[in-house]
Amino acid sequence: MPTVKVYIPGTPGQYPVIIEPGLLEHAAEHLTAYAGHQVAIVTDDNVAPLYLEHLMTELSSAGITGCSIVLPNGEPTKCQDSLNQVYDFLLDHRITRADAVLALGGGVIGDLTGFAAATYLRGTHFIQVPTTLLSQVDSSVGGKVAVNHPRGKNLLGAFYQPELVLIDTETLNTLDARQIGAGLGEVIKYGCIMDRDLFAMIEYCGCRPGLVSLYPEIIARCISLKAQVVAEDPFDTGHRMILNFGHTLAHAIENAAGYGTFLHGEAVCLGMLAAADWGEQLGCTSPGIRERILKLLENYQLPTVLPDTLSADRLFPSMVLDKKSVGKEIRIVLLDDIGSCHVTKLPAERLLSLMEHLS
Ligand SMILES: NC(=O)c1ccc[n+]([C@@H]2O[C@H](COP(=O)([O-])OP(=O)(O)OC[C@H]3O[C@@H](n4cnc5c(N)ncnc54)[C@H](O)[C@@H]3O)[C@@H](O)[C@H]2O)c1
Repeated sequence: MPTVKVYIPGTPGQYPVIIEPGLLEHAAEHLTAYAGHQVAIVTDDNVAPLYLEHLMTELSSAGITGCSIVLPNGEPTKCQDSLNQVYDFLLDHRITRADAVLALGGGVIGDLTGFAAATYLRGTHFIQVPTTLLSQVDSSVGGKVAVNHPRGKNLLGAFYQPELVLIDTETLNTLDARQIGAGLGEVIKYGCIMDRDLFAMIEYCGCRPGLVSLYPEIIARCISLKAQVVAEDPFDTGHRMILNFGHTLAHAIENAAGYGTFLHGEAVCLGMLAAADWGEQLGCTSPGIRERILKLLENYQLPTVLPDTLSADRLFPSMVLDKKSVGKEIRIVLLDDIGSCHVTKLPAERLLSLMEHLS
């Protein structure tokens, strides 16, 4: 089964990402390094009934004392109040820097727990056990941890790498179809920007049920690609921007539609189609790429049509405000072809004119 080693320069070392269906059944063997210590699990109320008891048993058979806190599921949990609850929980259980904090759940739990691990006692050991497709292909690796502030998403955060990531692809069996789709949006993004064979594999497979047996390989590929990008730009000052393909419009869509109307990965699907269209209009994306992405998204029942209410006029203002924009220029990621991309800056008015084609 695939193990990806992630090496991030400037951090204490490399960490393994172990990917295997049924991994949680024998998680103990990967946790022996923590024997004799405590592992504090942070999870949510959807994931806890499914996987918490089992993980606690595995901890115990590895000679680890486990304790847990269960928070409400959903994005509102990624806030300062929950962070304080996690700190109280760690203090109540006298967690020390020799112990570990473990995130069991999707990206919300991973980001929140990672920020708690980064800041509690100036940093404790941190383990990720991601249980959504999005967190397995993306958020559990790379070290971006954060909570939201009432004025914006991820405004309070840190770069803090986990030291172990355990991915049991069978946890995806309990995830609802919409959440799987949102993760697939990010998988397709990796294919678009860096890996035409991954894109072709998904194209060839043709439907969601066919992908299930390919999850370990797909996740390993995405994690390797992310690790490659993060190793080049661990603190997100340049090259990591390519991971934002489709995100300029996606953030605007999420903003304008109201958070929660579109899941992030769904908005990214619409953003990728728009960016492919802009690239083709500018002559830097090979003709026909938008059509190829469109067909793939349709085959996987992913969103391809913007609601009428989200016109270019409505979306454009938040694109200009996006943190990736520089003065009157907006930085966007455009494809050269499937599997290859570049970052470019466009004057805001030029982007607005390209957006007239939005549908
Ligand atoms: N740190 C990063 O690099 C990074 C990258 C991308 C996204 N993110 C963040 O990730 C968050 C989104 O993560 P997400 O999409 O995983 O959402 P999420 O954590 O909210 O999980 C989605 C839903 O699925 C449920 N769930 C999780 N695992 C399940 C399982 N196996 N079976 C049944 N239900 C399950 C959760 O309880 C939740 O209701 C956002 O806050 C986003 O900002 C972070």
